[in-house]
Amino acid sequence: MAESMKGLKRSHRCTEVSSANIGEQVTLMGWVQKRRNLGSLIFVDLRDRSGLVQLIFDEDTIGTEGFEKAGKLRSEFVIAAVGTVEKRSGAVNENLKTGDIEIKVTELRILSEAQTPPFPIDADISVKDELRLKYRYLDLRRPNIQKNLMLRSKVATTIRACLTEEGFLEIETPILCKSTPEGARDYLVPSRVHPGNFYALPQSPQIFKQLLMCSGYDRYFQIAKCFRDEDLRADRQPEFTQVDMELSFVDVDDVIAVNEKLLHRMFKEAIGIDIPLPIPRMTWQEAMDRFGSDKPDTRFGMELINVTETVKDCDFVVFKSAIEAGGTVRGLNVKGQGDMPRKKIDAIVNRAKEFGAKGLAYIQMKADGTVKSSFAKFMTEEETVALIEAMGGETGDLLLFAADKNSVVWDVLGNIRLDIAKQMELINKDDYNFVWVTEFPLLEWNEDAGRYVAMHHPFTMPMDEDLPLLDTDPGKVRAKAYDIVLNGTEIGGGSVRIFQDDVQEKMFECLGFTKEEAYDRFGFLLNAFKYGVPPHAGLAYGLDRLVMLMAQEDSIRDVIAFPKVKDASCLMTEAPGQVDDKQLEELFLAVDLPAEEETEE
Ligand code: AMO
Ligand code: AMP
Repeated sequence: MAESMKGLKRSHRCTEVSSANIGEQVTLMGWVQKRRNLGSLIFVDLRDRSGLVQLIFDEDTIGTEGFEKAGKLRSEFVIAAVGTVEKRSGAVNENLKTGDIEIKVTELRILSEAQTPPFPIDADISVKDELRLKYRYLDLRRPNIQKNLMLRSKVATTIRACLTEEGFLEIETPILCKSTPEGARDYLVPSRVHPGNFYALPQSPQIFKQLLMCSGYDRYFQIAKCFRDEDLRADRQPEFTQVDMELSFVDVDDVIAVNEKLLHRMFKEAIGIDIPLPIPRMTWQEAMDRFGSDKPDTRFGMELINVTETVKDCDFVVFKSAIEAGGTVRGLNVKGQGDMPRKKIDAIVNRAKEFGAKGLAYIQMKADGTVKSSFAKFMTEEETVALIEAMGGETGDLLLFAADKNSVVWDVLGNIRLDIAKQMELINKDDYNFVWVTEFPLLEWNEDAGRYVAMHHPFTMPMDEDLPLLDTDPGKVRAKAYDIVLNGTEIGGGSVRIFQDDVQEKMFECLGFTKEEAYDRFGFLLNAFKYGVPPHAGLAYGLDRLVMLMAQEDSIRDVIAFPKVKDASCLMTEAPGQVDDKQLEELFLAVDLPAEEETEE
């Protein structure tokens, strides 16, 4: 028996009412958080996205009928209440913004009744993810998620204001596209009008924004949906949002300068954090050497130490063979963990193996002064002493070593470093440590494909001084590419783009594309460049990741209204789903599942 709100107009959101309004009549609308009966009084917490306010019903004021109606209220009923703002009759609730007032209700309408929800609408109650996402419309009522989405809206507003002031134009680019060059798997959309042909959903607006520069738009930005069919993790979704930008007549420093301004304003206005400027910069090489990662978490030390020189002549075959094969030996000094129990050390070794290590050698410098090493018998006493010294080892320290090719050593120690920091609680949750990582390698050797692939994308400009290396030693070429990293998460990345034909052709050559293949995929961009192209550069942030870090959440799902789960499905809408035969016929498509899955159907 839903009542109408005819004749009523909401005057305030729940927490817009304060002691300044005492004595005034207000009309509030929202959801019943909870009801308590206290004899001749009924208390109801009313909730909307702004928060809670207490309604009080007494029979003398609202009359018998109204009082009975109030007695029927249950959680999540949607109601309208007209009443007078009063000083709270009971104790002030310090936890509520409206904790010193209450609304004495004179008229109550039940606008909508509600079934008992499958979980209480409460920030502090832990609910299984599957249930939350199946009933996402209820989960979205929880104040913590509402806070996150309000923060996200605030961030988007600030970005628009800041970039507009900096002379950027907001321009939309297509969703139905040709394949874009970011290197993940595409989501495809079949064309009805062109049977057998497919659109690709954009992995980013990369090519379009470069074309906009060719067309003279000078500075572009967009808050753009991007689609990548890749394995999902806590910081990855199949569809996600980029804050995407491109600028003409600029080099690396110009892009960084605008973005430091933007980041500063975003963090100040959204969460009141003053980022010290300029943001520190680190080359890719330095990031790998010190942190074993191109997205270093600089909130704590425990940096990698290269001990290759120190151990190069020892007889420990693990070290020796790695060095002979062109690899390195590097270590971590885990301060104060020299007495870590064997079981815990074994767990770290196993973890290292998950990251591709063949093993992890260690030296325990126990508190009692004894030293225990997993490889002591292969080393002379002097060699062990020299190694400990190189590591800055002191009584009470645990020294861990990995020997392998560089990429493996970095990955293993970089990840172990993060694991241990979490375990030892070395990270201060309230720190916001930004760093620009610059001078990325242009190319990366792909074993499976047997060729180089672009580390960023094929339009990224080599560093001027490395241009000659394109012919002689392409693997050594550094790029004018940069990532912005916050607390160990890559929140954005970009590059200066190639705008010269000859450099672009050489780049395609290094990537093993013939001219025909290059034109087939990116012909419209290459052709556009023939008609006058400004030097240009850009960057894109992952908005979801950015807001996740601002909100101090562990998953980007908590800052996306309707996210997908690990297998890229939506538990609420049950997408993806099957389609009618008729739809398939129109598209000239047939589904041809492997026999096994067909029988499951
Ligand atoms: P890139 O591929 O580095 O660059 O993407 C830019 C940023 O987007 C975010 N991101 C993601 N966020 C959530 N889920 C995902 N699956 C996902 N993939 C990427 C990251 C990343 O830093 N066109 C270039 C930018 C440029 O050169 O201007 C690009 O897309 O935070
Ligand atoms: P092993 O001779 O294989 O028993 O290894 C001796 C010690 O070296 C053990 O503690 C192993 O975990 C460790 N180890 C093996 N491979 C590596 C490696 N690539 N890097 C560092 N330590 C290793």
